[in-house]
Amino acid sequence: MKLLIDDANIAAIRRIYDLYPIDGVTTNPSILAKTGKQPFDVLKEIRDFIGKDADLHVQVLATDAAGMLKDAERIVKELGEDTIVKIPCIPEGFKAMKALSQKGIRTTGTAIYTPMQAYLAGKAGASFTAPYINRIDNMGYDGVAVCKEIQDIFDNNGMETQMLAASFKNSQQVLELAEYGIGCATVSPDVIESFVANPAIYAAVDAFIKDFETLTGKSTMAEL
Ligand code: G3P
Repeated sequence: MKLLIDDANIAAIRRIYDLYPIDGVTTNPSILAKTGKQPFDVLKEIRDFIGKDADLHVQVLATDAAGMLKDAERIVKELGEDTIVKIPCIPEGFKAMKALSQKGIRTTGTAIYTPMQAYLAGKAGASFTAPYINRIDNMGYDGVAVCKEIQDIFDNNGMETQMLAASFKNSQQVLELAEYGIGCATVSPDVIESFVANPAIYAAVDAFIKDFETLTGKSTMAEL
């Protein structure tokens, strides 16, 4: 399972990339708004930092297919042809996904709350589909179960569309989907930093150092 950062704060992206094995970055208009900067300025900074081979998902704003195509063309012009264009899974969005697929522009069907939206996005040629795990949970359903159901629909129908699960509130949701073998999860920096926020891990590391210091009077192998 690929692991992406769901954020546009360049300082947070740099910090997480430095520490963890990360495959790319996803954004949406609300995430971009939080930066307070011009969208393409922020997105170009992210693209320059992660490199042209890392996955970068950027969302259209238009709500009609013709406008979505224009947004998509501008996104790939500014950020590179490999940039993946996020399109909401509404009827006009499926129309745009079909057209962009024919042009060879990769898309992510987003704003997914139901398996039917994901099935239609896959049929329309989307490379990825983004179910909103935590938002589905908050509606009284099971976001992880919905994501697994979508994966089963793709597998059982020979569809190559990958999962890009989004909207996580905890590491367990991410881990359950990794166990299921979905394609990608995109996770906010604070949830990524909670992955190993376990005092037992740090207590074990501290105990190793203490024992080593008792034996050698040094704290590291390099000091010996
Ligand atoms: O792009 C969708 C995803 O980022 C939503 O996450 O945390 O706002 O539910 P969240």
